[in-house]
Amino acid sequence: MKKTLREKIIYPDDKRLLVEEALAHYFSSGETYPQVVYEAMRHSLFSGGKRFRPVLTLLSAEAFGCEPEDVLPTACAVEYIHTYSLIHDDLPAIDDDEMRRGQPTCHILFGEDIAILAGDALLAEAFYLIASLQKGEPSKTVQVIGELAEASSARGMVGGQVADIISTGKQVDASTLEFIHTRKTGRLIQAAARVGAILANASEEEMEILSTYAHYLGLAFQITDDILDVVGQAEVLGKKVGADQHQLKATFPDTFGLNKAMEMAREATDRAIEALDKLRADTSSLANLARFVCAREK
Ligand code: IPE
Ligand code: IPE
Ligand code: MG
Ligand code: MG
Ligand code: MG
Repeated sequence: MKKTLREKIIYPDDKRLLVEEALAHYFSSGETYPQVVYEAMRHSLFSGGKRFRPVLTLLSAEAFGCEPEDVLPTACAVEYIHTYSLIHDDLPAIDDDEMRRGQPTCHILFGEDIAILAGDALLAEAFYLIASLQKGEPSKTVQVIGELAEASSARGMVGGQVADIISTGKQVDASTLEFIHTRKTGRLIQAAARVGAILANASEEEMEILSTYAHYLGLAFQITDDILDVVGQAEVLGKKVGADQHQLKATFPDTFGLNKAMEMAREATDRAIEALDKLRADTSSLANLARFVCAREK
């Protein structure tokens, strides 16, 4: 048995709490009009969630010698982008979901018009947060903004979401499925890791290795999301299960069967952890996060 499999997987709650506090701090704006859009943004941002992506940003910065506190504006911006993507993903025109993070989805409470705009506002707010509060060399901040913009673009998350939509109801091949997963979910996860490293002044070579880790981490994350849609519990996940099959989504369990999909998630996790071996930094917490991805129940 590999050494890694025997170690206990504990989610980095200390980092998650840092993120929670920072989000509450950054989002306590004095804006009141038009109140409904702030309420909708706040509802989706603070209705729970693992904060996986901002935690990854903190851990990646820390691995390269930067204080996690110093990258909080960027980490929270990543969570804004993720939350925007969830609001839009749940819309009737996309996945048509009514529950998210254990609460009614944004459009159920506020209507589709406000939900679309709350998502738009969170995306814009993410870049404003970095531009106004992220300390450090301006050239690094520009690089971080570019990274997150690209990850959110048609070459990244939006491209993956569109590929997901046009593949619905079709039998897709393995490479299309991998394209969908590494773009719709993987690319923002990869960017979350990369921005932490950029701010911590990681070298080109270190960035390359970290990108490989985060590529497989993102793939494992979405394969597991597909698996949890089949075997997970709605009360634990805070969202409906069986939704992918109902919608005829192209997923790993549907394409390869549940057992093979589980094996593929484990393989992707192993590849992520293997990549870390090439780094000289202390990567134990990044390896731990990879193990969490595959073992998680929510
Ligand atoms: C769910 O993401 C949507 C995907 C991109 C797979 P998470 O599983 O990170 O959801 P939260 O943020 O914890 O609610
Ligand atoms: C969501 O993928 C990807 C993005 C939000 C970009 P899913 O549609 O599988 O996520 P869930 O299952 O609704 O959380
Ligand atoms: Mg979706
Ligand atoms: Mg969905
Ligand atoms: Mg899903």
